[in-house]
Amino acid sequence: EDPVLKSFNLEAAAEYMSKCSNVVVMAGAGISTSAGIPDFRSPGTGLYSQLEKYNLPFPEAVFHLDFFRTNPKPFFLLAKELYPQKFTPTPTHYFIRLLEEKKKLLRVFTQNIDSLERVAGISTDKIVEAHGTFFTSHCLDCREEYDLEFIKEIIFKDEIPHCKKCDGIVKPDIVFFGEKLPARFNDCVHSDFSKADFLIIIGTSLKVAPFNRLLTFVDKDCPRLLINMEPAGNSNQDMGSGALLYGKKANRRDVFHQSTCDEGVSELAKSLGWEDEFNKLLQS
Ligand code: OAD
Repeated sequence: EDPVLKSFNLEAAAEYMSKCSNVVVMAGAGISTSAGIPDFRSPGTGLYSQLEKYNLPFPEAVFHLDFFRTNPKPFFLLAKELYPQKFTPTPTHYFIRLLEEKKKLLRVFTQNIDSLERVAGISTDKIVEAHGTFFTSHCLDCREEYDLEFIKEIIFKDEIPHCKKCDGIVKPDIVFFGEKLPARFNDCVHSDFSKADFLIIIGTSLKVAPFNRLLTFVDKDCPRLLINMEPAGNSNQDMGSGALLYGKKANRRDVFHQSTCDEGVSELAKSLGWEDEFNKLLQS
């Protein structure tokens, strides 16, 4: 085994990171499971395996527009489960906040729609909610905008929100398959990835495009640290030189730290000498 490679572990990555000031974080559902929010694809516990009762043609249909137009009920039942503010942020969310306080965070790109990054106190200009949020909703037909309160009340009555103007179905601004990602996503991808000096990929299976392609946009020497329970990505997918991320082939600048997100960031905080501050933040 390559000795350089072997020694580029979490600790070595932390040492490298201590000198960085443009850290980009790519996050997924795995950073919120310890808050009690299920992820999507974990067998048994993931949302997609709990959708059987809704008789969907395939689990992801819940996020497909065509299906939603004919049968919005499964989505709104799911929305109720995932509704923001019902949950508190995890240690991983607070670690990202610590990165900001340490002036190292360039941006966190999250696929999550639980808005726990905001709740954890990370500045909104540091957050890119790549798959949208519940904060606003729009009528599918006339595009009339609705706020969180409107949707909340109806979702919690197990009813379907309809537009007051045209009676169309009102859909939260969560990005469905086939929909464009928010303009802010593209703007920030453009400005941030060439500037990034360290990439943390955490709690995501890297199965969904275009998000999963972002890791190929950093400089070829930029270290990429994956903290996840399992290898991520697709072996048949072009991940640049990110082969290590799906456990196939190693390269020098990538680290796969296989653990829970919370354990991973707590070890990272320790290696960075931030243990006390991290614990203080968790207790506050
Ligand atoms: P997935 O459910 O696909 O992947 C979550 C990953 O996190 C898996 O690899 C898990 O093994 C891992 N994981 C779960 N809990 C963990 C923990 N406590 N510590 C460490 N790892 C853990 O979720 P995403 O990758 O976020 O789209 O899914 C991407 C998109 O697919 C979502 O944004 C969603 C879905 O369709 C929309 O909502 C629009």
